Amino acid sequence: MEIRKVKQSRINQVDFNNIQFGSLFSDHMFAMEYIDGEWQNHRIEPFGMIEVNPVSASLHYGQAIFEGMKAYRGIDGEIRIFRPEMNHRRLSASCERMCMPLVDEDTFINSIKELIRLDHQWVPPGEKQALYIRPIMFADEPQLDVRPADRYRYLVILSPVSGYFGGDFPAVSLKAEEKYTRAIQGGTGFAKAGGNYAATFLASKEGRENGYAQILWLDGVEHKYIEEVGQMNICFYLNNKLVTPELRGTILPGVTRDSVLRLVSDMGIKCEQRLVDIDEIIEGVRLNTLHEAFGCGTAAVITSVGSIGYRGTLHEINNGQSGQLSRDLYSSIVGIQRGEVKDSYGWTQVIPV
Ligand code: COI
Repeated sequence: MEIRKVKQSRINQVDFNNIQFGSLFSDHMFAMEYIDGEWQNHRIEPFGMIEVNPVSASLHYGQAIFEGMKAYRGIDGEIRIFRPEMNHRRLSASCERMCMPLVDEDTFINSIKELIRLDHQWVPPGEKQALYIRPIMFADEPQLDVRPADRYRYLVILSPVSGYFGGDFPAVSLKAEEKYTRAIQGGTGFAKAGGNYAATFLASKEGRENGYAQILWLDGVEHKYIEEVGQMNICFYLNNKLVTPELRGTILPGVTRDSVLRLVSDMGIKCEQRLVDIDEIIEGVRLNTLHEAFGCGTAAVITSVGSIGYRGTLHEINNGQSGQLSRDLYSSIVGIQRGEVKDSYGWTQVIPV
């Protein structure tokens, strides 16, 4: 692979104590193009502007997908990535749904490792910090015909991040959304397609104007079954069981979600992946059988839910505080990612620098 380095790194200008999610990017990026039926020109080059033809199909028809993962600096100084093969599997599912070319697993993982090896100084040291890894793929054929493109670009960019919501262990407020819909069965909800996120902006904006941090999405047919939260999957600790919406094509198959299910069942807590009726959750609040609720995702890790607004009433969970299970899961996951807790699942890979 060709590697073209920056003349002067920007790392000395960075204050890791003061970083806002997604606003700072490392010195280099990985890039390649899909032309004539194959990925070519694999390279690492300085992070910077790229030229895109204004006719490019991604700009018009939204043929664009991405992934989200992180590299962690351990307490032993080593840099680790977490379950990258799962992100690769999800990228492949997104590619298939959006009629885009696959990237093989070796190219996916090795390009990330090579890029981080070069930009290892950009992995921040704090317990709540990480280097967010954002692979993206978009159509780049200059044609306006409405069909899958035959040229694509693929990039990986890196961004040092701190806690997604800020605060020590916040408990966020969610609005159960009955007007707008994120996804329906047969649609693209399970794919990490850029357009899925754009489709949520209006609901999030209205939710924020009413004091909610995120939207709790309900199914698109009846607005009855819980799907996911803004940028996370959702779990309920209900009646001493972990209950989470099943994967039925409308929600993202999260890597953190999968890890939570494994950790929780190994703690001896029964897990149920099934339809979760919003009325059942509100009833759980009323009867005090809903012990905790939390969102899980790469960016947000484990984030407690302090309240749910539904049909004009705010329902407080666990007195609006983060709960013990959420805290324990956060510690286990971050502990494994940072090499503090033994990785008995083989989830992490150390990046030699
Ligand atoms: C992630 O957790 O990686 C996400 O994709 C959320 C992101 C859109 C901020």
